[in-house]
Order: sequence, then C-alpha cells, then structure tokens
Amino acid sequence: MERVEKILSNNIYNQCMACIEKAEENREFCLHDTEHSLAVARIAYIMNLEQNLGFDKECIYAMALLHDIGRCREYEDGIPHHEAGSVLAAEILKACGFSEEEIYDITSAISSHKQLSKDTSRRELKYVLYKADKLSRNCFECKMYDECYWDEEKKNQTITI
Ligand SMILES: [Fe+2]
Repeated sequence: MERVEKILSNNIYNQCMACIEKAEENREFCLHDTEHSLAVARIAYIMNLEQNLGFDKECIYAMALLHDIGRCREYEDGIPHHEAGSVLAAEILKACGFSEEEIYDITSAISSHKQLSKDTSRRELKYVLYKADKLSRNCFECKMYDECYWDEEKKNQTITI
C-alpha cells in the first residue's frame, strides 16, 4: 500500500497527529490516535469484503487514517473536526498520489462521518466510515461508560465485527 505509506510520512498528517496526541494527553474518553484509525480501517475493510462493496483497499485505509485529523483544528480553533478534516485530507491525499475522484469520495465520507443524512445507502463509502468508526470502540469494557455522551443504543455492548 504505497500511497498509504506516503500518508504516514506526510508532514501535515504527522503535525496533526502530534497536535491531537498532545491535546488528548489527559483525556479519559476515547482517544483519536493511530490505534483508533487503524481499527476503523480494518473494520471498514472487513465490511468491504463481507458485503462485497468493491471499494479500493488503499482508499479505505487512507479514509480511516485521515478521518479524525481535523480534531487538531477543533482543539485549537473550535472548527468542527469533520469539516476541517476533509480540507486537510484533500491536501494530504493529493500529495500522496490519490486521484481527483478518489479525493472527492474520501473527503465526502470524512465530512459526513459525524452525522449521516437519512438517505445514505449502506453501500456508500460514507456509511462504511460512519459505521466502522462507531464499531471501533470497545464500550463494553470502557471505564467511562456511564459518563460517555453516546446514546445507549450507539454504545457497543459486545463484539460484532
Ligand atoms: Fe473516529
């Protein structure tokens, strides 16, 4: 996955990840680190395989690695992370060799991963990101379970994927 490896060594990507790590140093709720992004990537890829969705593996991993990088802007300037993230992601994806069409699909998924519109199909890339993001959290063993703002039905009570 040559283009995904380029993301990992991209300056903007690394600056964002360092900024998020610092901002979340004392955070007790879920973190937005590489472990989270990779869990999202792998769950999304399993969904892709199990449901025969046909998305490109590199696009799935790139989308997952970049979906929360906007949190650095949210922590610094209060800009919603899904909005800031899609702008940052576009720049990084371009530098790493993704096509205009791939950049459009990935950034659309990132900008809507916080809240999906009701007409989103379960076979769309944005649905895969939204779902994998939620499924990546081990709520069933979380010490902050009661304090978490997620609705009860959104919390993962068990392992499903
Ligand atoms: Fe996330």
